[in-house]
Amino acid sequence: MNSYQPAPGRIDGRGLSIRLGHGSEAFEAVQRLDFAVEPGEFVCILGPSGCGKSTLLGALAGHLVPSSGQLSVDGQAVAGPSPQRGMVFQHHTLLPWRSVLDNVAFGLKMQGQGRTERRRQAREMLQLVGLDEFAGRWPSQLSGGMQQRAEIARVLINRPRLLLMDEPFGALDAQTRARMQELLLDIWASIRTTVVFVTHDIDEALFLADRILVMSPRPGRFIEDLHLDFPRPRRASLLTSPEFTHLKRHCLALLRHEEGRELPRLTPLGLPDTEHPPLRIAL
Ligand SMILES: Nc1ncnc2c1ncn2[C@@H]1O[C@H](COP(=O)(O)OP(=O)(O)OP(=O)(O)O)[C@@H](O)[C@H]1O
Ligand SMILES: [Mg+2]
Repeated sequence: MNSYQPAPGRIDGRGLSIRLGHGSEAFEAVQRLDFAVEPGEFVCILGPSGCGKSTLLGALAGHLVPSSGQLSVDGQAVAGPSPQRGMVFQHHTLLPWRSVLDNVAFGLKMQGQGRTERRRQAREMLQLVGLDEFAGRWPSQLSGGMQQRAEIARVLINRPRLLLMDEPFGALDAQTRARMQELLLDIWASIRTTVVFVTHDIDEALFLADRILVMSPRPGRFIEDLHLDFPRPRRASLLTSPEFTHLKRHCLALLRHEEGRELPRLTPLGLPDTEHPPLRIAL
């Protein structure tokens, strides 16, 4: 899409800790995170339930204030929410009394754009997510997958530096979810904004990401930074490739890793994996 000009979108986190709760019940949800994300990178945050993934995303969105450390986007400290850092949750936030088109155009209305221009851009966004024929519908007239597509368009119309996604396909059935993953990659191929995508689904992370940051159980720390070089465009056949299975096994071992034990290391594909010897089937 030629008129789409994404801003850079580099993230820097230094010694980032986030405390939640109050008084004697306060605890560190994430602890001393050091990381950098390049502009345009597609990063998945993978970790067990309760490890602090949503907390970290909340800090990136500016909804939560870190208790220590620094968090900046393109060199500017994150201080409060901004349309420059758009968030997509598991459930959409479309306004039920506005048409799909007006929902998508809403961000531009907030910026003071005129009706004709904001509707033109909203139509462009709906085309990008494959919903141009549904512009005049109410959100309740869309399927779950279509609602999430409209939600993505609603966020992208602000040309965000960061697209933050918290298990955005978690409520969808398996087939719709797979289609949405491919669609998201197609969208990202044309707009190349930085994506931080939270999931606890290993297949989803491996299918989507350039890079997976794996978190330990609470308090969340990064225990792996996995760079994936599967060719793009990615299609379903990737899920059954030996490389994919190999990395999946490694991610599984990381998610099952217990505190105090040595962290599982990624062995090169083809070398014997001493931690996970091949299964023997008794005949
Ligand atoms: N407002 C809050 N006050 C107190 N504790 C909270 C609050 N929000 C979350 N928690 C706790 O903080 C920890 C981190 O929560 P968070 O929602 O970030 O985890 P998560 O990795 O996103 O989990 P899930 O995969 O289940 O969504 C959890 O143990 C959770 O119970
Ligand atoms: Mg969560």
